[in-house]
Amino acid sequence: MDKKRILTGDRPTGKMHLGHYVGSLKNRVKLQDTYDQFVMIADVQALTDNFENSQKVRDNIKEVLLDYLAVGIDPKKTTILIQSMIPEIAELTVFYLNLVTLERVLRNPTVKDEIKQKNFEQNIPAGFAMYPVSQAADITIFNASLVPVGGDQLPMIEQTREIVRKFNSLYGEVFVEPEALVGEVKRLPGIDGNTKMGKSLGNAIYLSDSEEELKKKVMGMYTDPNRIHATDPGKVEGNPVFIYHDVFNPDKAEVEDLKIRYKAGKVGDIEVKEKLFVALNAFLTPMREKRKEFEGNDKVLDQILVEGTAKAREVAKETMKKVRHAMKIDYFK
Ligand code: TRP
Repeated sequence: MDKKRILTGDRPTGKMHLGHYVGSLKNRVKLQDTYDQFVMIADVQALTDNFENSQKVRDNIKEVLLDYLAVGIDPKKTTILIQSMIPEIAELTVFYLNLVTLERVLRNPTVKDEIKQKNFEQNIPAGFAMYPVSQAADITIFNASLVPVGGDQLPMIEQTREIVRKFNSLYGEVFVEPEALVGEVKRLPGIDGNTKMGKSLGNAIYLSDSEEELKKKVMGMYTDPNRIHATDPGKVEGNPVFIYHDVFNPDKAEVEDLKIRYKAGKVGDIEVKEKLFVALNAFLTPMREKRKEFEGNDKVLDQILVEGTAKAREVAKETMKKVRHAMKIDYFK
């Protein structure tokens, strides 16, 4: 039996962090054996709010690829592709734009948050507002049934499902409605205590951080703001240091012991953070090593992208044949 398809992706606008790992990368590594997985470096989408800085987008394509390889996404199992090199996606987007209203795209809660965060106010680039429609094309052009993503992407999958229903009801059953798959940790807080880790928030631990950078970030982490002395009873719930311990420290007995002593005012922040540093460093060390195998090896990196994109484009072309036929715009055979 043919394997089911996964499609997911990332905007190449910076390095990937622990939030990306728990939200989506972990699932991708796990599922690449059982699914036919396609992972897209979404440069077209990155340009929707970085069109003045295309050099940044270009530079980050390799960063994102290195992050993928470092966490264990294997190009022999996973097809890695560059979005802009598959013009069929842009074509499908144009057809999809007829199937959504302006009101609907502007109601997307993730898009709304981003508009606020980027201070677009009355000057929202139309391409930016429409990117969820283009994302629906990303997913469906590869016939994906599963989309491993972070929790902030759920509105995109919902919108994709609506577009699929509309397309199928108008033109016939061409597409499947994809499902989202969110990691066990829905949202990892930042090191500053903000509810979300984000590169634009400046509160991220990157998968490529060195041991020194990691140490500095962990030792400076936000904890229980009401705890001044190591003898004060501290709060564990909602405390990012303990949230990270729960997620990344495999020594559950150590974490339990730290929690009990923290609540009783019997352990200092420094010890809790030092133990977290050790756990995180053990987690990131194999990724640093894997990254080193590929870093600077541009020939190999280029080859992964060229081959992955060529393979993906064939699939996209096949889908567009079906789309044109269904839409009755396949004029000359
Ligand atoms: N919107 C995603 C992000 O901001 C990136 C993305 C583009 C994507 N196309 C996709 C994710 C298709 C899943 C499926 O990270």
